[in-house]
Amino acid sequence: MTSVQLSESYRLRLEQLLADALSIEDVSPSRLHEAMRYSALAGGKRIRPTLVYASGEALGVPIAALDRIAVAVECIHAYSLVHDDLPAMDDDDLRRGIPTAHKAFDEATAILSGDALQAFAFEWLSEPIEGISAQSQLRLIQGLSAAAGSRGMVGGQAIDLASVGQQLTEKQLEVMHAHKTGALIDACILLPSYCSELVTEQQRDSLTRYATAIGLAFQVQDDILDVESDTATLGKQQGADIAANKPTYPSILGMDGAKQKLRELHQEAFNALDMFGSEADLLRDIARFIVQRIK
Ligand code: IPE
Ligand code: IPE
Ligand code: MG
Ligand code: MG
Ligand code: MG
Repeated sequence: MTSVQLSESYRLRLEQLLADALSIEDVSPSRLHEAMRYSALAGGKRIRPTLVYASGEALGVPIAALDRIAVAVECIHAYSLVHDDLPAMDDDDLRRGIPTAHKAFDEATAILSGDALQAFAFEWLSEPIEGISAQSQLRLIQGLSAAAGSRGMVGGQAIDLASVGQQLTEKQLEVMHAHKTGALIDACILLPSYCSELVTEQQRDSLTRYATAIGLAFQVQDDILDVESDTATLGKQQGADIAANKPTYPSILGMDGAKQKLRELHQEAFNALDMFGSEADLLRDIARFIVQRIK
């Protein structure tokens, strides 16, 4: 499998912004703030913030708005991983090549650091953004909270836990993935569109199609890698889905079926961007990265 790289410059930009935003280690209570930094600054592919910048590039959105959205989204993602790894959920010990938050600290601190990262995301997104109206900003906050909440990611996590040991249909699996992973990925791509008056409905429809395809593709590949990769490459325990008896694309469609699905979703994502020119090239690169990534 070929490895493809995501945009290095946007990743570094996000790393710096996130480190500055969370430079609160000497704020009391210090252990809680240390745990927040531990999980948010531990690396990771930073694919969601990169999607924010890529969508902003395609639509010509001011970078100040993208910076706000990118950090907020990554804090929501970091919180979701901390809680996802807890003993009450997936009970994982390794994340991004280091001990999970509840192992490095303790369970209560991990839970609280996740809560605090989520709250911080909205605090950060509520700061005035130059050139963006208060009304547009409210749409950002509404969009991100809907994506993160019970009708989005958290709803998906609830479906995931309720599905342990169940035989799901392909449609049911798709609904689970669309919630637990797709909703936040959709938000990364669509929130920038609320920051420009010039965005057309047709552009938004195309981006919605693209987002639906890559959101699902992302989780299909996550499921495939859980079977085919190894713990050192993944930075998280390989085989965790099988051990926890989770329904996944390979378990329902077989490995060949899952890979076929991935190819179809990549094509669909690519086609969805037909109306865009080279300004959407980073979105095209990310679609390719998502289906070819090895971790
Ligand atoms: C892992 O997300 C959780 C899923 C939604 C599958 P990522 O694979 O984006 O994790 P990091 O941020 O790169 O560690
Ligand atoms: C996690 O899905 C999705 C969210 C955190 C919302 P997984 O449980 O498949 O993610 P990994 O495999 O632990 O990264
Ligand atoms: Mg999980
Ligand atoms: Mg997990
Ligand atoms: Mg997984």
